[in-house]
This record gives sequence, C-alpha cells and structure tokens, in this order.
Amino acid sequence: MPIRVVFTGATGRVGRSMVPAILRSTDFALVGAVGRQRAGEDVGVVLGMRETGVRLESEVEEAVRGTGGQVLIDFSAPEVAVKHCRAGIEAGMAVVMGTTGMSAEDVSELGRLAASRGVGAFKAPNLTLAGHLMFRCAELVRRYMGDVEIIEAHMPEKLDSPSGTSIETAERLERVGGPPPGIDHTRFGLPESRGARVGSVRIHSLRLPSIYDHQEVLFSRPGELLTIRYEQYTTEPLVGPTLRAARLVLGARGLVHDFPGLFEDDPAISSHTNS
Ligand SMILES: NC(=O)c1ccc[n+]([C@@H]2O[C@H](COP(=O)([O-])OP(=O)(O)OC[C@H]3O[C@@H](n4cnc5c(N)ncnc54)[C@H](OP(=O)(O)O)[C@@H]3O)[C@@H](O)[C@H]2O)c1
Repeated sequence: MPIRVVFTGATGRVGRSMVPAILRSTDFALVGAVGRQRAGEDVGVVLGMRETGVRLESEVEEAVRGTGGQVLIDFSAPEVAVKHCRAGIEAGMAVVMGTTGMSAEDVSELGRLAASRGVGAFKAPNLTLAGHLMFRCAELVRRYMGDVEIIEAHMPEKLDSPSGTSIETAERLERVGGPPPGIDHTRFGLPESRGARVGSVRIHSLRLPSIYDHQEVLFSRPGELLTIRYEQYTTEPLVGPTLRAARLVLGARGLVHDFPGLFEDDPAISSHTNS
C-alpha cells in the first residue's frame, strides 16, 4: 500500500519538485496539499501535471481532514510551519519538518506533542546528500581546528537568517570536542559586522539575487586555512532523501534529528523520482 502523504507548501520552489515526484511514485500517494496561490484548484493541474483529485487548500486543517494521511511533509514558511506540523500530528500523522526558521522551542514542543501522540517528527534543516557530507566533513575538521566561521548566502526571498543549514552546522560543531577557538580582540566598530553567534561559531549571512544556496565553513589555524564549500543549485537533490525520510519517520516516536541510512542509495525510490 502506498504511504499517504499531505504536502504543505505544494506550490513553492521545493513543493514544485517534491509534489510531482510523489505523484509519479508508486510508493507514495498524495492525499492532501496546501498552498495559497490557486487554492481550490486540483494540485496536479496547478503544477502542470494530470488531474489528481486532490484540491489545493490554503488551510492545513482542510488539507488534512478525512484524508487518512500518514505523513505530513512541510516545506512552507516559518510563520505557518508550526501550525502545519501541529495539525498533522494532531491528526495522528508523522511529520517531516523541512521548513527552516522555526524556533528551537517550537521544534521541541512539536517533538513533545509527537511523542505524546505516538508519532515521529523529523527535523531536517538540510535534506541533501552534499549538505549531509558537508556536516560530516566539518565535524571531522573541528576535532583538529578550533577557529571556525561560517559564511552562508541565499536569495533575498529567503525569510529566515541565518540559514537553517548554517545553524545546524554551528550546533554540530559546538558538540564536537577539539582545540578551543582563539581570542577575538574586536572592540571597536560595528559589532554586527562580526556576524551572528551560535555558541562560539560566528555566522555571516549574505542575501543576493544571483544565489540559491551557498555555504562556506572556514577553519583556520596559524599559517593555514581550510574551507569546506557547499552549493545547492536546484531543489532536485532534496527529493530522494525527503521521500526516504517520509518512510523512515513512520517508524519513529517523538523528535528525530538523524536517520541512519537516509542518504544511502535507495533504488526503489530513486527509480521513481528520476523518471
Ligand atoms: N530542509 C531542507 O533541506 C530545505 C531545503 C530547501 C528549502 N528549505 C526550506 O523550506 C521552506 C520552503 O522553501 P521554498 O523555497 O519552497 O519556499 P517558497 O518557494 O517561498 O514556498 C513556500 C510555500 O509555502 C506556502 N505558504 C507560505 N505561506 C503560507 C501560508 N501562510 N499559508 C499556507 N501556505 C503558505 C506557499 O504557498 P503560496 O506561494 O501559494 O502562498 C508555497 O507553497 C523554507 O523554509 C526553506 O528554507 C529547506
């Protein structure tokens, strides 16, 4: 039986890659969709595909009601993501929380709600293989090099800053042991020019029209510099891992940050999403 999915943010940049992949897949069935533009129309038609019988709703409650959905996948906006995820959990659905910019308190609260309802809630600020490898490389380097700063760049339409990927990177670096960072002697000038801080890691955010998703993690020690650079050009790399997460989260309870094997090759899914 295909896994029944409600997708919130169906008309967005990510939704326009994810929803067609779900519609093409025999492992998943789309049973609900949220997006404001062209709400009331068939979501397949809105996305330039076949009629699906699933109406695009502007309110998550309408999209979830009576669908028997098993997983809600949310790639929407920080101001509505909590509402979307909560509605899914309250309807007994597991959730894949792809939207960035939710507060840590909101994420914890959703995790507690999911645990109390006996469903999984997967928090995934970066669902690409290259992003995952970037995290792992940065964690490795941090064991040897203590001075690290992050530069991230996105398009100006991005609503949250710093990016979810950069915050996740900084939080991971903070958890790794290694040499302590050196002293920053800055005392004069504009303090914000030194970036936002997550623990001891400074993050510098650029918002420029020609960039989609870019991040550099710069490690330094006297006399040498090591940079890990990550670029995402399209939303396609998210599709396979997000579908795998939607399957794995069905077996989880409460808040989950990592699924072992999420980025392993899964021919069953990739054969559908690449067609
Ligand atoms: N986890 C990851 O790996 C990853 C990767 C890429 C992006 N993201 C995150 O995913 C989120 C979505 O990104 P995107 O680029 O797809 O954004 P986007 O293009 O702006 O799309 C946002 C979607 O959410 C809907 N939406 C926004 N506000 C809404 C509201 N108040 N009520 C109902 N629907 C609403 C929009 O519908 P309308 O346009 O019809 O209003 C649209 O479908 C962002 O937080 C982004 O940072 C995460």
